[in-house]
Amino acid sequence: MPIPGTNTIDLRSDTKTLPTDEMRRAMAEAEVGDDKAGEDPTVSRLEQMCAELLGKEAGLFVVSGTMGNLVAIKSLTEPGQEVILERLAHVYLWEGGGISAICGLLPRTIPGNRGVMSPEAVEAAISDGSNVHRGATGLLELENTHNMAGGVALTVEQTRALCDVAHGHGIPVHLDGARIFNAAVARGVEPAELVTPVDSVQFCFSKSLGAPVGSMICGSREFIERARHVRNVVGGAMRQAGVMAAAARVALETAPGRLHEDHENARTIGETLAELPGIDVDLETVQTNMVNLEVRREDLDAPSLCRALADYDILAICRSDVAIRLVTHVQVTREDTRRVCDALREVLG
Ligand SMILES: Cc1ncc(COP(=O)(O)O)c(C=O)c1O
Repeated sequence: MPIPGTNTIDLRSDTKTLPTDEMRRAMAEAEVGDDKAGEDPTVSRLEQMCAELLGKEAGLFVVSGTMGNLVAIKSLTEPGQEVILERLAHVYLWEGGGISAICGLLPRTIPGNRGVMSPEAVEAAISDGSNVHRGATGLLELENTHNMAGGVALTVEQTRALCDVAHGHGIPVHLDGARIFNAAVARGVEPAELVTPVDSVQFCFSKSLGAPVGSMICGSREFIERARHVRNVVGGAMRQAGVMAAAARVALETAPGRLHEDHENARTIGETLAELPGIDVDLETVQTNMVNLEVRREDLDAPSLCRALADYDILAICRSDVAIRLVTHVQVTREDTRRVCDALREVLG
């Protein structure tokens, strides 16, 4: 693994950001208590603040996006049920199979158009349990923004239409909103509007918001009560977690207002790449802080492009022999973006 230096531009992920001085100060000064017993005022205030921000009744602080999704999904389902998700959903591909191993669910995947499932396909995939060969559908899972699709943001209308199908069959909906604030900026709406129709939502402080750790689950009071129990079962109840919640709060108060800069920088990189020979970029998907590209050249494959960029002190994630992902974040400036574009032109031009 490369060790980033002070001059490194790290485009591997928005999880690579380091806590700011303001976050570190807030952590040092945080009022804390035993959160497993509900006695940490900094955590409790953050949970309440997030619930209000998203228009839900209650919130629950968890250590990671993976845990947030797992706890929420387990709280809404029964073992043996099916869960409908998009073919490239993070929960399906990259969370260690927890929905099967721990929730006992059978994933029923649907291919989306740039990550977006159609309501008709969801309707067709639903099982009411009357067929002896199938478990009943217990959950519809959505992702906004969609990581593997390149940061594509669901609209309010798309979210509502998908939820309407599930709710029409009495099926709850969980939203993996790891980057829901990016989606809100991209769609020009309040985050609450994007989560109104879902039963539960998970979002991450440790991704584009730039905090060192933590995620939040929000939903009804009854759901959060169940989730609090499940979080303890999976070992996720914490003690003086206010030190982490304090940094998360700084992230929540400072980051959303600047996410458009990350989106502009990703767009600039995407447009530069689209002009270079043998590089495929679907600019339709470059809506937030990610750029997915494919290298289709005789002289170079994706791993060698990543190595060439590393010589310019630029780090990128190589997903296969052809696919690369670049992610912008708070520690990638406008000037860094120019440096990335210059390096890409030199290597690929
Ligand atoms: C869409 C999405 N959901 C969930 C997660 C999981 O978050 P964590 O790595 O904090 O467990 C990620 C991580 O990148 C993600 O991109």
